Amino acid sequence: MDTTYLKENQDRFLTELIDWLRIPSVSADPKFAGDITKAAEYLKARFEEVGLDNVELCPTAGNPIVYGEKLVDASLPTVLVYGHYDVQPADPYELWDSPPFEPVIKDEKIYARGACDDKGQVYMHVKALEVMKQEGAFPCNIKIMIEGEEEVGSNNLGIFVRANKEKLKADVILVSDTGMLANDEPSIEVGLRGLSYHEVEVTGPNRDLHSGLYGGAVANPINVLCKMIASLHDENNHITIPGFYNNVAVLSAAEREELNRVPHSDEEFKKSIGLPDVYGEKGYTTVERVGIRPTLDVNGIWGGYTGEGAKTVIASKAYAKISMRLVPNQTSEEITALFQQHFESIAPSGVTVKVKPHHGGEPVVTPTDSVAYKAAADAMETTFGKRPIPTRGGGSIPIVAMFKSELGLDTVLLGFGLDSDAIHSPNEHYGVFNFMKGIETIPHFYRNYAAAMK
Ligand code: BES
Ligand code: MN
Ligand code: MN
Repeated sequence: MDTTYLKENQDRFLTELIDWLRIPSVSADPKFAGDITKAAEYLKARFEEVGLDNVELCPTAGNPIVYGEKLVDASLPTVLVYGHYDVQPADPYELWDSPPFEPVIKDEKIYARGACDDKGQVYMHVKALEVMKQEGAFPCNIKIMIEGEEEVGSNNLGIFVRANKEKLKADVILVSDTGMLANDEPSIEVGLRGLSYHEVEVTGPNRDLHSGLYGGAVANPINVLCKMIASLHDENNHITIPGFYNNVAVLSAAEREELNRVPHSDEEFKKSIGLPDVYGEKGYTTVERVGIRPTLDVNGIWGGYTGEGAKTVIASKAYAKISMRLVPNQTSEEITALFQQHFESIAPSGVTVKVKPHHGGEPVVTPTDSVAYKAAADAMETTFGKRPIPTRGGGSIPIVAMFKSELGLDTVLLGFGLDSDAIHSPNEHYGVFNFMKGIETIPHFYRNYAAAMK
């Protein structure tokens, strides 16, 4: 493909993305509700500009879904593109080198919350449509659906998908919301982990107590919570919840060998995040620990006195947010029940424990022998000059399993992010190279896919 148009328009593409990134579309915090609407409307206007038809904001019980389509010929296949315009909260703001919603380009990278996850990657699709429009050819039918609640579990999108099966009829789903190994090491994620997320509350005495008058004679909810959490892993870092591993798919030695063939260095891994050593479940490599094994992590823990100086107190309550990443063939329903039951059962008699489940999501593995996967791999090979390798990613995109179960459709995870892009962290960024490579690669995917489906 001639990349002249891309080069000539790169600055405008970036300016448009930056204008969108300036809108703080944080879905977790209701105080940003107005900005969510603004971000959705901004995208809708860009959809219209690139010539999509039937562009609309589809209302849900929560944030609107931005939808558009280009239906060129009923005899051609249809690709449904999915992504999200909501972003994670930017806290803690003081750890950003430049404000999260005042995007800057530094060292060929766009710094802003959402730059990579997922506004930057969604915007590649919008500009890829512009490129194809300008070339005068849409090789297949395209529907695009960008939601505003991925970072909070996609519950309303789930309802929307179930209620709109005809509207969303397609042959395959295309998503750019994952990463690749390195800019000179293209790869395609073929697995996503599921999720089971909980908030737990441990209650001891009916009020905060003087830790001298009562200390030693009552169960301290924070001590108890720490002990309970510590007991969830054994000395080999296996998770101790009875039945937790029952349905975990066991890979053959050959499959594990294949998986470990991806370029990975524990030394570089440690260096990249400032760790003195790697850590995890005994008997598995880092690649396996992230890709094919389930995990349990505390995401936050609080209670008692955390202010200046010292206060001698036994708190009445202690809290934690605990999540588990799931792999095939675990289900969030099964694991949620097992966790709840186990966590309540290990509480000592001196406290009461409540477990409140949050959102869940199911694990998926996408095929590597499909027409769509090959179209994506060929597209990347063309634009990167190197055949991408399949990898198993550690993150979650809850709707992908539902695309399979509700619409019967496989997904291709054509992502261009890097682990070092700091998604969900301060100083999230996205390479200009990655953004432009995405815009260049996506039209190849459509052409390859349409040609192979003939
Ligand atoms: N885009 C990410 C998921 C992701 C990132 C997958 C990189 C693979 C590689 C997505 O926006 C995300 O953050 N998902 C959440 C799940 C959600 C229910 C909060 C996650 O994985 O924590
Ligand atoms: Mn995302
Ligand atoms: Mn995310």
